Amino acid sequence: MLKPKNLYSRDFLSSLDTSEKEILNIFELAKNFKNKELNIELKDKVLGLVFDKSSTRTRVSFQVAMSRLGGTTIDLNPTTSQIGRGEPIKDTARVLSRYCDAIAIRTFHQSDLNEYAKWSSKPVINALTDLEHPCQALADFFTIKEEFHDFKKVVLTFIGDGNNVANSLILCGALLGVEVRIACPPGYEPDKEVVNKARKLYKNDDLLRITNDLASALPGANVLYTDVWSSMGEENKKEIKDKDFSGFTVNSDLLSQADDDVIILHCLPAYRSKEITDEVIDSNNSRIFEQAENRMHVQQALLACLFS
Ligand code: CP
Ligand code: NVA
Repeated sequence: MLKPKNLYSRDFLSSLDTSEKEILNIFELAKNFKNKELNIELKDKVLGLVFDKSSTRTRVSFQVAMSRLGGTTIDLNPTTSQIGRGEPIKDTARVLSRYCDAIAIRTFHQSDLNEYAKWSSKPVINALTDLEHPCQALADFFTIKEEFHDFKKVVLTFIGDGNNVANSLILCGALLGVEVRIACPPGYEPDKEVVNKARKLYKNDDLLRITNDLASALPGANVLYTDVWSSMGEENKKEIKDKDFSGFTVNSDLLSQADDDVIILHCLPAYRSKEITDEVIDSNNSRIFEQAENRMHVQQALLACLFS
């Protein structure tokens, strides 16, 4: 099994830090890890986890992925380290990269993540910022590939807030040539710069559509994907966003307007009965828990590529 050598020791701050070929290589490795057909030893490697926001899936999947590779993780909780006391990023990053072999960071501003990467001599991985969630997008498209095999025949409709998860789906979708439709209420469109970058990658303008008209984004969709309406850090916006997103709940009615073979994805955690109903999340169309499991296999593959 060949690992893409050109990912060695690189940062993964954005979906655009990989190419289509590198992503497909990661997927091949992930498939082998998942089928237990591959064993790569990264003995003694240490991944630091700096999480400014809560996490279940990302934190635990990185921990288990490292343990499966024979390495370890260090949980650097900002409230019990000097990070929470305001130690400058450039000092923290320079010190941590002398102890750890890579650092996965979950924080608010993409600019803070980029600052870590600037000062760290070891690879920095984006474990979610307000702008992007590239590890999530890798697992999402891996899940889609398991189901449909050929990306060029897939229509992915994301229903919800055009922020981190949607932005990374757009960028990763553009790299892989997947048709992506984003359906959101007015004012919740994805980042303009992300959309512009994606449009440059797509060879065909019709492959990326941003719309406020949800009904028009459903016909022919093979994947319906949603995310929470109020993201971490937006707790004070819940009331207004619940109103703004009314009508954007993924329910059986929406499902019936998509393609017959439609699958449902959600990055989780979910607010059942807000952005998605119980009926849909637990339906036969749902691949949400497979998707969550795939976080681990795909990150194991990513780490194997960054470390060796
Ligand atoms: N999807 C995801 O990133 O989940 P966590 O917030 O639990 O890590
Ligand atoms: N958009 C969500 C994703 C959680 C994985 C958030 O940022 O909270």
